[in-house]
Parts: sequence; structure tokens; C-alpha cells
Amino acid sequence: MTVLAYPLATRRDTKRLAGQLARVLAGGDLVVLDGPLGSGKTFLTRALCRALGLGQAIPVTSPTFTLLHELETVPRVAHADLYRLRDAVDVRALGLDAQRDEGRLLVVEWGSPYVTVLGGDALIVELVMEPARAARIHATGNRSGSVLAELAAASGVG
Ligand SMILES: Nc1ncnc2c1ncn2[C@@H]1O[C@H](COP(=O)(O)OP(=O)(O)OP(=O)(O)O)[C@@H](O)[C@H]1O
Ligand SMILES: [Mg+2]
Repeated sequence: MTVLAYPLATRRDTKRLAGQLARVLAGGDLVVLDGPLGSGKTFLTRALCRALGLGQAIPVTSPTFTLLHELETVPRVAHADLYRLRDAVDVRALGLDAQRDEGRLLVVEWGSPYVTVLGGDALIVELVMEPARAARIHATGNRSGSVLAELAAASGVG
């Protein structure tokens, strides 16, 4: 399995990674963000949305209680946070896979237990804080695999 590793020592590093992701992702893709509290899942989502044209005045916050935020990016981002959900049945009831069918880029914090319910073929971004902040990125399907390959080529990581 290919895993790309990006050191994220500074917020600027995370913004740069978001910019690279913005260039290779498309509507209908699934990005799952994993990692402990405060590891930067929402920060990376915010930076990705800015890179996809969201105005600075529009806040991007964790949809921890509302579960889903829709953002007027290009392509449009659907941002979910499944931290509070217990199991796949709850997640299925949200119908998030339909967001992808409608052409939105689906970004899901705490989504890795639910990749199948989210429609599969995910780019998994694991954010770690120890021993230092970093992202480890892998793919679970064909489309996400080619996104990963494009990301590796664009960023010189691999
Ligand atoms: N290199 C970095 N990359 C991203 N965030 C960083 C970095 N350095 C410091 N931070 C800070 O870490 C915090 C990350 O918080 P954020 O809300 O994005 O985490 P989260 O993973 O979404 O947490 P939660 O699980 O609670 O949703 C922010 O306050 C951000 O400013
Ligand atoms: Mg968050």
C-alpha cells in the first residue's frame, strides 16, 4: 500500500498540502480525515475550502452538532463530522453518499470506520501529532488511488 507522508510542522505546511489537494480532487470524491482531537482535521478542511475559492469571510467550523455543512466552493464541499455518531446505521441514515452522487466533494472528519457507507473509494488523510505533526495519506480504491498518484507527482512526495 502506498502511503504518502507530509510533515506539517507549521500551519503554513498544512495550507500548502490543502492547496495541493485542491488541485487534484474533484466533485464526487471522498476525503476522510482521521486523527486525534486538535490534530487539524477542521483546519485542513478550512484551508482546502479557501483553496477551492471560499471567501475569507465565510467561517469553516467543525459540524460536530449539525453533522453536515455545505460550502459554496468550486466544486461544492460537503463537510461532515461523525464524532458523535455511534455506528454505521446512524451514518447510513444521513445519506452522505448522495452528496457525492450530486457532485459534491465529501470531506468527513472521523470517517474511517464508515468508508463503505460513505460510498467507498476514499482518500484517507491521517493527521498525527506525535512525535511531530504530519499527514499520512493513502487510498482505498481506483479513483482515490489516481488522486494519490497525482498528489505524489504534484508535491514530489512518494
Ligand atoms: N501545523 C498545523 N496544522 C494544522 N493545525 C495546526 C498546526 N499547528 C497548530 N495547529 C492548530 O491546531 C488546531 C487544530 O484544530 P482543529 O479544530 O483543526 O482540529 P480537529 O482535528 O478538527 O479537532 P476535532 O477532533 O476536535 O474536530 C488549530 O487550533 C490550529 O491552529
Ligand atoms: Mg474538527
